[in-house]
Amino acid sequence: MASHPGPESVSSYEGYDFRRMWAGREAVTELESGLVKTALAGAQSDRLLEAGTGFGRMSPLLAGLAEEYVGVDLDPSGLREIRDRLRAKDARGLRLLGRANLFHLPFVSGAFRTVVSIRVYHHIRDPAGFLGELARVLAPGGLLLLSYTPKPTIGTLEQDVRGFLHSRPTGLTWDRSDSRECGPDPFPIVVSTSARVRRDVRTAGFEVVRELGEGPERIAPWWPIRSLRGGTSTFPGSFLFPTRFLLARRTGTGDSPLPSLDRSFACPRCRAPTGKRSLDGSWAFPCEKCALPMDFRDGVLDAAFLPSGAEQWTIAPPNGPPTARAPGGNRTRDATSSDDPIEEVRAGRNG
Ligand SMILES: C[S@@+](CC[C@H](N)C(=O)[O-])C[C@H]1O[C@@H](n2cnc3c(N)ncnc32)[C@H](O)[C@@H]1O
Repeated sequence: MASHPGPESVSSYEGYDFRRMWAGREAVTELESGLVKTALAGAQSDRLLEAGTGFGRMSPLLAGLAEEYVGVDLDPSGLREIRDRLRAKDARGLRLLGRANLFHLPFVSGAFRTVVSIRVYHHIRDPAGFLGELARVLAPGGLLLLSYTPKPTIGTLEQDVRGFLHSRPTGLTWDRSDSRECGPDPFPIVVSTSARVRRDVRTAGFEVVRELGEGPERIAPWWPIRSLRGGTSTFPGSFLFPTRFLLARRTGTGDSPLPSLDRSFACPRCRAPTGKRSLDGSWAFPCEKCALPMDFRDGVLDAAFLPSGAEQWTIAPPNGPPTARAPGGNRTRDATSSDDPIEEVRAGRNG
């Protein structure tokens, strides 16, 4: 049974204390780092895009896995934090951080060899739009590493129980649908069956290479997770892995050189290439074709485009007025909302 695809919904973590949510969960980051290294082992990357950086939990690792690292997110404070941290570490691959909507990336087609997107997919209500855009910026034969939250699993069962206890009438993730929305909490949360995610990934122009999973070790700490990393490739429907890391290859072959990064910018609205743009100093200019403004200051590009039909989900600052940014339907949740997203994410592993 098919369900969901929704509109382009854009969740910005600006103003959301995402770092606090991760305090004390370093073991999960360590485990995920191992999965990323396993998945990408042996895949030399001349340019890697991290799609949805957050505060940079995985960015130092990813910046070390490619000759050139580019990170994008909508949250400018997270991007500045990553810039400062990576610069202080003299991270070898750091080239660019950019404020951008993942549905409208400010790059020409085929600009990246690898795209990694971790813990973003569960906020995506329009998987075709999202995956299609990631496919567009990947060179043929390039790799996508996508983490997602499958349904049903022991993780979503926990979510169902919590929803029941809090009288949230969002339906059950253990139903027969292949995709279900269970948010917003505080951002939209979508969980899909592994079969559905694989189908969406294939439809977007990829072939699935393998899948790795994590999660059972949280419920059973003695679980020999390292030896089971490949288990999800063998048992893709297993309910034991509440987080999956799916590795896919962009169809087509090609090991031709990528355009240089300073020639890889394009308008996120009309896709017109911008021509050569320096990665030093600062610049600001409107797109020559559609006049969308873009600027670059101190290592951070601002090229966020939100079309009129998009919904933007943001967090209102405590005691402040709700923020309204997108021309389309804005959804703003109060940061002091009685729903406790932090507790939810800790338990439900959504963040
Ligand atoms: C749960 S966080 C994950 C961050 C990081 N990958 C990690 O694993 O720690 C999701 C991130 O995706 C970003 N995000 C969600 N939708 C986005 C969109 N359409 N465009 C850009 N960023 C988006 C949010 O701002 C947030 O930083």
